[in-house]
Amino acid sequence: MASLVVLAGCASDAPQDMLEPEGPYARTLDNLFNPIFWVAVAVFVVVEGVIVYSIVKWRDRGDADGDAEEMPAQLHGNTRLEIGWTIVPALVLAVIAVLTVPVIFELNAEPAAGEALEVDVTGAQFWWGYDYPTQPDFGITEGIVTANELHIPAGQQVHLTLESVDVIHSFWAPKLNGKRDVVPGRTHHWLLEADEPGVYSGQCAEFCGLSHANMRLKVVAHDATGWEAWVEDMQQEPVAPVSGLAAEGFALFQQRGCSGCHVVEGAYNEVADDSPPSPNLTHLFSRDCFAGCIYDLNDRNELEAWLRDPQRKAGSKMVIGELTEADIDALYAYLETLE
Ligand code: CUA
Repeated sequence: MASLVVLAGCASDAPQDMLEPEGPYARTLDNLFNPIFWVAVAVFVVVEGVIVYSIVKWRDRGDADGDAEEMPAQLHGNTRLEIGWTIVPALVLAVIAVLTVPVIFELNAEPAAGEALEVDVTGAQFWWGYDYPTQPDFGITEGIVTANELHIPAGQQVHLTLESVDVIHSFWAPKLNGKRDVVPGRTHHWLLEADEPGVYSGQCAEFCGLSHANMRLKVVAHDATGWEAWVEDMQQEPVAPVSGLAAEGFALFQQRGCSGCHVVEGAYNEVADDSPPSPNLTHLFSRDCFAGCIYDLNDRNELEAWLRDPQRKAGSKMVIGELTEADIDALYAYLETLE
């Protein structure tokens, strides 16, 4: 078991390996981690070395008959040693502090207005919501709301403003920056930046209930063209279907109460005041994952299984009741139009 745990740390290109930073903030942290790691290794080797040396050198060798030796002389105190092992750790900690404090300030600096892409992030049991205010500099002429997948332009500073609607969550995309706890009732700030376009995996890093482990996230970093295309896509409202199976699903979406919680811009802009926070579905099928990014949206079976039983993700707040297979087909046909 122990060796399994150790080996699990050796995956060569793990998607959430914070030791392989792919952005400037994560790199800053890595540059702090490395020297401190080696300081810790040095302390470990010295302390363990002295312990092992002492155990071996002063072990009970027994007398000629194999009996325990007499009790050795009992000493008490050694002023020089005690001063030494007080000063040396203090110096080690001072060195670590000198390295750490500037990094704390660097990572908590708020970017100047207009410099960073602004995204308001909401943590909820058990998914992340992303709200992009209007920012013409980044092509966003009309606010964008999405969930689970955070889209950003590569090589661009991104400033997150984070809030939680229920319990403490922690936003963590390990290759792009460290963790930022999100405490209900407070507003937090965090920075992200990816060097290159790509998909960066992350997860909630603070125990927040039954599906804490299922509260995953993806950061999708685009090149300039990809970013423009994404923004343009997101700024278009889907057209409500008027005929066929999709139209049946559209009606069902309302009858079964889905529209009481999930916003679909252009069709269901208002949700009930007392509805649990629910992902905006306007462009659901532009995403690759759903339900806290644990299920693959490209696999039809996953979404059907979800509609059959949202409790397949423990603690999910979604209530939809019994659906027939025909209902599920209709709902799927409608959801699929939300591109
Ligand atoms: Cu949210 Cu753990």
